[in-house]
Amino acid sequence: NNSFDEECDYLFKAVLIGDSAVGKSNLLSRFAKDEFCLDSKPTIGVEFAYRSIRVGDKIIKAQIWDTAGQERRLVVCDITRRPTFESLQKWLKELREFGSPEMVVVLVGNKSDLAQSREVNLEDGQRLAQLEQVSFMETSAKENLNVEEAFLQMINRIY
Ligand code: GTP
Ligand code: MG
Repeated sequence: NNSFDEECDYLFKAVLIGDSAVGKSNLLSRFAKDEFCLDSKPTIGVEFAYRSIRVGDKIIKAQIWDTAGQERRLVVCDITRRPTFESLQKWLKELREFGSPEMVVVLVGNKSDLAQSREVNLEDGQRLAQLEQVSFMETSAKENLNVEEAFLQMINRIY
């Protein structure tokens, strides 16, 4: 469960960023509550959720913020809208300028269920990730594809 005072071995904070309506809130709600909303409202201010996960014999509690923040970044684009992919470079540049060098960044191409409207190839994402030396994954918050993997990728990178 997600209660604040639950025992855990590690607590970390992670942040989701990216252009508007790429699916940040739905990735979070899928990961934290296994919920998806087809007509979700834009996020105003900040929101966060907790989830505890077992990695090996450790319980790790993730406090995940839906905007501005700390050490880990899930930077999200929408594979059906090319400009949100172009923005990834802008987000990364800002992160590099203002963030710590040890910051863990995972790039995500969300909405992989909408393959027929694809404007970003898998190879584009992989190439950018390689260039920037971060990892890249395609996800669908709607179909619950790779959501767990994307968050775990971000979590596991420190250990
Ligand atoms: P802001 O809070 O405005 O920055 O947006 P956001 O990035 O939090 O996007 P949000 O999660 O609110 O999702 C925006 C729209 O995309 C909603 O209509 C969602 O239902 C839809 N959406 C999110 N993820 C997916 C997905 O994986 N597949 C599909 N088909 N739609 C998705
Ligand atoms: Mg949101």
